Amino acid sequence: MQLKEKYLKISTCSLMSNTQANDGIPPDVLSKVKKYLQPFQLSTEMLQEVSARLRKDLIRGLGKHSHHKAPVKMLPTFVRATPDGTEKGDFLALDLGGTNFRVLHVRLEEAQKVLKMGSQICTIPQAMMVGKGEQLFNYIATCLRHFLKSQKLKGQTLPLGFTFSFPCEQLEIDKSILIHWTKGFKCSEVEGKDVVQLLKEAIHRKRDCHIGSVAMVNDTVGTMMSCGYIDQSCEIGMIIGTGTNACYMEEMKNVKRIEGEDGRMCINTEWGGFGDDRSLADILTEFDVEVDKTSISPGVHIFEKMISGMYLGEIVRLVLVKMTKDKLLFKGQISKALGTPGQFETKFISEIEEPDSGLENAMKILTELGLVWDPVDASVVHLVCDTISSRSAHLCAAALATLVNRIRNNRKLDHLETTVGVDGTVYRKHPTFSSKLQKAMRLLAPQCNITFFVSEDSSGKGAAITAAVAQRLAP
Ligand code: GLC
Repeated sequence: MQLKEKYLKISTCSLMSNTQANDGIPPDVLSKVKKYLQPFQLSTEMLQEVSARLRKDLIRGLGKHSHHKAPVKMLPTFVRATPDGTEKGDFLALDLGGTNFRVLHVRLEEAQKVLKMGSQICTIPQAMMVGKGEQLFNYIATCLRHFLKSQKLKGQTLPLGFTFSFPCEQLEIDKSILIHWTKGFKCSEVEGKDVVQLLKEAIHRKRDCHIGSVAMVNDTVGTMMSCGYIDQSCEIGMIIGTGTNACYMEEMKNVKRIEGEDGRMCINTEWGGFGDDRSLADILTEFDVEVDKTSISPGVHIFEKMISGMYLGEIVRLVLVKMTKDKLLFKGQISKALGTPGQFETKFISEIEEPDSGLENAMKILTELGLVWDPVDASVVHLVCDTISSRSAHLCAAALATLVNRIRNNRKLDHLETTVGVDGTVYRKHPTFSSKLQKAMRLLAPQCNITFFVSEDSSGKGAAITAAVAQRLAP
């Protein structure tokens, strides 16, 4: 508690001066609103402290004896090399990580060209996300079979990259045990099992469907690999979408949990789990606590729940409900939609923060939510969205700064130039998220010059590229 007050009172933070967001709010209302929002505003000093805590957790996660209990899992991926641009051929990619499941046919050609020959999106019904594991894998195999048929690929045996964006203990490139589900999934009989095996069995059950060797990757790794195919200085992959996570190339000698001292290996940090040992309790707001408590997995992925698309809308909703109950908004009248969990979607935040049409969008959204609003209400909602998305971007920056500073120290460099491959709807679709994150990075990692390489579909394409690198390196 003491710590919380100390950090919140520091007023030197140059990250929070968004006066534009205050436009249209009378001073007396503004001072009341600010009391609700203050716990979300983390000073530069607090972000440095968050980064220092994560630094310690990275080391715990890599340790031989400490990794079992570490909240940040630091999972070895068995990806030992980034692409060199010479990889070629035809590959399949499966991408499962959110409400959509995708199948792709990718061709890697001369001059680092990645051609998407075809793709198909299948929506995973909500019931399937929490149903039987076998049903989920059968569905994946059915989609794959349908895709192969439509692309006239049936009868061919192509190598397959499988992006599975959940924390897995990877034993080999094609053997990977699911530790636990995240992001609203809770299928039975998958945790503790090898997901590559489950996939192969489901495909086998289809009888007339065949695949070649499998390379399994997390979406962060897929993103790093697909960006790395074009820009060889890419050594970090970051996702800020439904969930959040990053991977990076770590020196093998620091990965104490596995044998071997030479070279590097890509580590999937699973930074979403930061705070699961209560190490972030002093910066959690009452709204974060509520979001966690009412989620399908309480106590799991606390950091992710402060940052990612699955939760941001709900945090905003809870703040708006509280302000309305306290008669600061909508004349104290909560509509049915505003009172219902999940009804304030994260995409509304992006729409409300659009530089030109934001206020207009806010008014439309509030009307659709059945609220009776006035222009001051719309401005307050805009300020709430801005505050919560800014906290998300700043926390991401604190985590990313920890990684780049670590790489710089590992290599004993005064200055590091590096590229981060990024994907995820929050980063790509929110109008100011990337600039907020980059501004914070300049403060938190001043000795690192970072190029952000954003690409769509990168995790799927990256899985295909990983399969190609694995093939290139195979003895
Ligand atoms: C969740 C998953 C992680 C994934 C991230 C982004 O945090 O646990 O594996 O990379 O979401 O999709």
